[in-house]
Amino acid sequence: MSAVTERQIVALVDAFYAKVRRDEVLAPVFERAIAPEAWPVHLAKMYDFWSSVMLATGRYKGNPLAVHMRLAGIEPAMFVRWLALFRATAEELFPGELAASFREKSERIAESLKLGLFYRPALNGWNLAPRSPN
Ligand code: HEM
Repeated sequence: MSAVTERQIVALVDAFYAKVRRDEVLAPVFERAIAPEAWPVHLAKMYDFWSSVMLATGRYKGNPLAVHMRLAGIEPAMFVRWLALFRATAEELFPGELAASFREKSERIAESLKLGLFYRPALNGWNLAPRSPN
């Protein structure tokens, strides 16, 4: 399979967050965290992130778990929705094999974010309540 191009990553990220911003469940979390004029910065960060994930360019230097820890109102069930929108967007834009490779990466990363955010060994399991920021 030929590698994804940076231009394809930009198209995917732009189309995905356009959907997110119209999604009744996800949009409020993003609206609380990202001012309208700050969206270009968020999108640029996400181009770097996916470039690092898919092409190992190392352009993204952040800490996604720490950033999501600070988000008010994020809930485990929201990941199902996030992943479904991401998968649908990738399938709209890319041939099957490339779309599948984005889906696999997104699901793996979501799993690790969910563990970090919600798994509480001291409770013997998952804390399913919406997070309040700490
Ligand atoms: C319930 C699902 C999710 C919600 C509601 C959510 C929400 C957000 C929000 C609001 C931000 C911006 C935070 C800020 O700038 O203050 C953000 C950043 C980010 N998200 Fe998510 N996210 C979700 C899942 C994911 C998943 C599954 C991934 C990766 C596959 C991901 C990757 C990122 C990255 C890389 C950033 C940038 C972090 C940084 O600033 O370095 N998110 N997310």
